[in-house]
Amino acid sequence: MIEFEQIGTIHSPYNDLEGMPIQPAGAVGVRGRVEVLPDYVDGLQDLDGFSHIILLYKFHRGSGFDLKVVPFLDSSPRGVFATRAPRRPNPIGMSVVRLERIDGAVIDVLDIDVLNGTPLMDIKPYVPHFNSQDEVRTGWLGEKDSNVAVHRSDSRFR
Ligand SMILES: C[S@@+](CC[C@H](N)C(=O)[O-])C[C@H]1O[C@@H](n2cnc3c(N)ncnc32)[C@H](O)[C@@H]1O
Repeated sequence: MIEFEQIGTIHSPYNDLEGMPIQPAGAVGVRGRVEVLPDYVDGLQDLDGFSHIILLYKFHRGSGFDLKVVPFLDSSPRGVFATRAPRRPNPIGMSVVRLERIDGAVIDVLDIDVLNGTPLMDIKPYVPHFNSQDEVRTGWLGEKDSNVAVHRSDSRFR
């Protein structure tokens, strides 16, 4: 058993899973607000120097999981760990979003692909030379990853 504390809440314009973006690339310019709980606000010092941050959160809406899922961007079943499906053994999501400003406990972000009221677990600075790779394979996604900007969420993962 592993336990995590909620450190805040992510607010977004999306109150319904149906029709929402499936990645930040499909939510360009969409504003979100991250409210950090008072106990954790001191940990935001120096974060404002970063243009992008990684949000780690719990997919709190939805329950259970399947080890084989048909992803939003495909019509064939795939192993859940080869997808970003929200229903997973540990329902943890991660989004790289643009940081607009920090004001006390509130972080304004852009490109949010998360449901309104989502519990926040962690924040990390996005650092390209830690995370981005030059030579990559994208498995079953192949060319489909470019569709991420236009595809929308449907009832598949409720
Ligand atoms: C495919 S996941 C990708 C999320 C994240 N960028 C990632 O890669 O982990 C995005 C979808 O998860 C679902 N979702 C978003 N927030 C959720 C929440 N709080 N609880 C359950 N499902 C959520 C929506 O259907 C949304 O379109």
